[in-house]
Amino acid sequence: MEITIRPVEKIEGQTRIAGDKSISHRALLLSSLAEGNIEIEGLFESEDTISNLNCLKELGVEVAGDWGKLIVKGKGLRGFKEPGNVLDAGKSGTTARLLTGMLAGQPFHSTLTGDVSLRNRPMEKLTGALIQMGASISGRHNNELLPLTIRGYDLLPINYSLPVASAQVKSALMIAALYSRGTTEIVDYFNTNDHTERALRYLGAGIEKTGKNHTIIKGSTKLKGEKFHIPGDISTAAYFIVAAALAPHGELYLEDIGINPTRTGILEVLGKMGAEIEVLNIREYNCEPVADLHVKSGRNLRGVEINKEMIPRLIDEIPLLTAAAIFAEGDTVIYGGTELGVKESVRLKSTTIELQKMGAVIEELPDRLLIRGSTKLSGTRYESNGDHRVTMALATAALFAESESVITGIEAVQASSPGFFETMKRLSS
Ligand code: S3P
Repeated sequence: MEITIRPVEKIEGQTRIAGDKSISHRALLLSSLAEGNIEIEGLFESEDTISNLNCLKELGVEVAGDWGKLIVKGKGLRGFKEPGNVLDAGKSGTTARLLTGMLAGQPFHSTLTGDVSLRNRPMEKLTGALIQMGASISGRHNNELLPLTIRGYDLLPINYSLPVASAQVKSALMIAALYSRGTTEIVDYFNTNDHTERALRYLGAGIEKTGKNHTIIKGSTKLKGEKFHIPGDISTAAYFIVAAALAPHGELYLEDIGINPTRTGILEVLGKMGAEIEVLNIREYNCEPVADLHVKSGRNLRGVEINKEMIPRLIDEIPLLTAAAIFAEGDTVIYGGTELGVKESVRLKSTTIELQKMGAVIEELPDRLLIRGSTKLSGTRYESNGDHRVTMALATAALFAESESVITGIEAVQASSPGFFETMKRLSS
């Protein structure tokens, strides 16, 4: 499928954003580990979360209701059944990794796979740590790649310092720690997202921060909760925020957006670039902070320097920031690109190539990406590269090009933002 995007003058209005993907995955998985029923309100319905739910159903989890209000009938930590078939995480890295952590504690055999892209994403840091905890796991390429076959046991606690900036690896180990006899310590010097920590705290797990980067988790604590409220996804909101900030006439209200500080790097960077973003009505649901956002255009954005410590807090927004920087005054430099994971590197490379087709000046240096500002883009035909975040970053840039663009392969947005083009169309003129 393809779409034609014409340059716009205005991005105006009010909208809700689909539920946060990361929190939705955790709510589904951790509710199924809890005792009794948990209601999930505003769960994000997408290919990725459907894959997660299908895997859980295969493990014996029952649900009632629909995606707006789903009741998960928790199995407790040890009530799952051996799956009769291979578990398929589809495209979802979060499902594959978090589920691997949970399966490592189950006293049965399971095999987990995914689509071709997921089958090429690294698993070895996680499988290595889980094997150290006592799980039996084997996978392709020396346990590096899916499919993985897992036979879980009661696990041993572990002291583990994350060798890579991956919230998914950290979360999987925290879930595995629930199946250990003792206290696990996880050290995260990268400050990756802490959605799992917050969800576990909400469910009454024995989890505690013992230092800025240190968290301990006690094994065998029963989880219990009533309701997860899933706020709008800030990573999806980000495209609309950038569009409103760049538009000659922009004024946008976004309701009920998650503002977890480990995810708000995008708001900070846009603030530094001169965007006017107000954070209103801050409140909290299931240990996650939530707010309404008000964005206004009017000032030209300025180029900015993004240091590598900031990257985990805007890991999914790098393609978008690259696109936004083209329209800012002055250059933007993004450090830390060489340490990006496979998914992010491929994503950034595709965004750069496609934006260069429109005339963007982007230099890839060994330790940084340099984006020349104030560049006029001419509309062209470009490809989604099958990636939702690349598609949305390109679409946002195309709104401010000098002429019409065509993006092909737009079905990729289904992974995180099924209504993206409809909402953008409604807000723009
Ligand atoms: C996510 C973590 C990040 C992010 C992904 C969601 C999560 O992945 O890119 O979209 O839900 O924890 P990594 O942990 O691979 O960096």
